[in-house]
Amino acid sequence: MNFKITTFDEPTINFRSENVYSPSDDTFLLIDYFKKTIRDSSFDGYSLKKVRYLLDMGTGTGIIAIYLKLLANKLINFNPKIYASDILKEAINCAKKNEKLNNTKGKIHFIHSNLFHSFPDKLQNKFNIIIFNPPYLPALEENGKKFFSDLDHSWSGGEMGYETLIEFFNEVLKFLNPAPNAVALIYYITSSRVEKESITEKLNYLGFQTEEVAKTHIFFEDIILNRATRNSL
Ligand SMILES: C[S@@+](CC[C@H](N)C(=O)[O-])C[C@H]1O[C@@H](n2cnc3c(N)ncnc32)[C@H](O)[C@@H]1O
Repeated sequence: MNFKITTFDEPTINFRSENVYSPSDDTFLLIDYFKKTIRDSSFDGYSLKKVRYLLDMGTGTGIIAIYLKLLANKLINFNPKIYASDILKEAINCAKKNEKLNNTKGKIHFIHSNLFHSFPDKLQNKFNIIIFNPPYLPALEENGKKFFSDLDHSWSGGEMGYETLIEFFNEVLKFLNPAPNAVALIYYITSSRVEKESITEKLNYLGFQTEEVAKTHIFFEDIILNRATRNSL
């Protein structure tokens, strides 16, 4: 029997913070995609049982990690270790409060880290699913000067808009499960305001195939959910 995942509640995210990204269209593009593609025995077409380690990189309020933990509470075949990380300590604190609010306290492993820099070695070669709704817009300049506040971590992906994402992909291979029959998927968001070809070219060079799996149009841009898989050797 297939559970109707869409009937599961979304997490209550009452704790927000000045510098922490509030869940938005990109967040819900991811959550809605998971609602449609996670079933009682499959994760987006892959074996749910094989999803043992899952990471929500740049977790913000923690909404995606908490959503997946709530789902795991309901699905017998879904029992991954869930990790969530963010470059902002303020985001980690906020996500922990939301975790408690949703009665998932102590079930998510939080890591305060710039990308993978502070990840313990024991997590290398482990993750089956990694989700990153990154900062994906080009940085702003004012009077020729770049400025950067904590909140800018939410959206500013570097001069071209994709530098943080590429840096992430430079590091991610070390943390993905390398076994030939393992599930190893990366979900990430991009915007039509940033040149897609440059990103695809760089990711192909790094050994990934990418495809768009969902899209939504907001005001003047498309927000795109992409899925990357490793090229087979
Ligand atoms: C667009 S927000 C997404 C937040 C949340 N995942 C969501 O979907 O609502 C991007 C998040 O990535 C975090 N972030 C930015 N640069 C990062 C980095 N180098 N390492 C880890 N997290 C980063 C930001 O602090 C922010 O929480």
